[in-house]
Amino acid sequence: MTHIELPELPDPAELAHPQQLYKGLRDAGAAIAMEDLGMTIVGRHEDVYEILRNPDVFSSNAAIEIGQVRPLVPLQIDPPEHKKYRKILDPHFAPRKVAMMEDDIRGFVREMVEAVADSGGVNFHDAIAELVPTTVFLDLLGLPVSRLQEFIALKDGIIHTQAASRAEREAKTAETGLKIYAVIQEVIDQRRAHPTDDLISRFLSSEVEGERLTDEDVLDIGYVFFLAGLDTVTASLDCMLAFLAQNAAHRERIAAEPGMIPHAIEEMLRWETPVPGVVRITTEDTELGGCPIAKGTQIVAMIGSANTDEAAWDDVDVVDFDREANKHLTFGGGTHRCLGSHLARLELRIVLEEWHRAVPDYRLADGIELQYAPDLRSIRNLELVW
Ligand code: HEM
Repeated sequence: MTHIELPELPDPAELAHPQQLYKGLRDAGAAIAMEDLGMTIVGRHEDVYEILRNPDVFSSNAAIEIGQVRPLVPLQIDPPEHKKYRKILDPHFAPRKVAMMEDDIRGFVREMVEAVADSGGVNFHDAIAELVPTTVFLDLLGLPVSRLQEFIALKDGIIHTQAASRAEREAKTAETGLKIYAVIQEVIDQRRAHPTDDLISRFLSSEVEGERLTDEDVLDIGYVFFLAGLDTVTASLDCMLAFLAQNAAHRERIAAEPGMIPHAIEEMLRWETPVPGVVRITTEDTELGGCPIAKGTQIVAMIGSANTDEAAWDDVDVVDFDREANKHLTFGGGTHRCLGSHLARLELRIVLEEWHRAVPDYRLADGIELQYAPDLRSIRNLELVW
């Protein structure tokens, strides 16, 4: 296995175009030990795919620390128990169920877009990308939009914690984590007393083959939704609008042919991969691409690299909205494949449709150097003008 020390944080230009970094990673070897981080990074498509599909050896249990006090459900639950949760959760996120949300989501997205369409310029991250998934989430939980800023602050307290040291970061994350549990517990208590038709009420009464979710299960699921459903969609929207603002031919095509937006979304999800990697821990000694890996190794499987691996794709560096059979790994794969992918795709499609209907032609504001976050690829300074 190749060993390297932790590099300096990549500069903004590299974070904006990580595909070159990914290529360097794949060329360096199948498994790269990052000694300072205590992690091993894997970037070749066939190895990433193997990791995702083999939870017995590459476990999700205890592989990430994001302020939780118990394992995240279902993200950190290994099979066979994991199946019980997905059986209960999947029907609530099936395409037919998600499609029923389209009119509501389109209604508030249209209002958000119309509020800025005549202004000639806006920070897209602040005005749209952050508000849309947060509003959807409040809706799912049955909470008022007046709590929107509170939710954004809580999410940022976990995902984008500002701290001078690792210890300070862990303390802040743990503190924010407790606040998130408290908010979700508040909703659980209200819905136990007065059930409605929101998601938490439905979870509390769900039963599959005699199995019911406990209050603690619902709390742990709510925690994952909070972190899995907000910044992922925000980062995807940021990456897509930044790409389209800088690639006129692609943008013009979307504006002229809205019917092809679903194809464009899949290709931009592949190319940009807004969630660049997922984390696992090995349960036994194993190997990947001929590299031995010891039991107990923390692995980062770089799905952004797998999605741009020349061994797995034709014309891998061409962003081709007509690409057929686009089997990107942006939503993961195998056991823990994203529960919210249909909802995410709906949110992305509605925003791209409504935005390009109202603002078909736009570009980055002069002098802007986009600041991509190094973890989930959101862009706080996405200033657009038209
Ligand atoms: C474009 C937006 C999104 C992206 C790119 C994304 C990406 C992912 C990825 C890569 C995984 C696999 C994690 C792993 O294997 O460790 C995952 C799992 C998950 N996602 Fe998403 N996600 C998105 C939106 C959402 C939304 C809107 C929800 C809201 C419900 C959601 C809920 C979940 C859950 C609950 C899991 C865990 C599934 C399991 O462990 O069985 N995601 N997501």
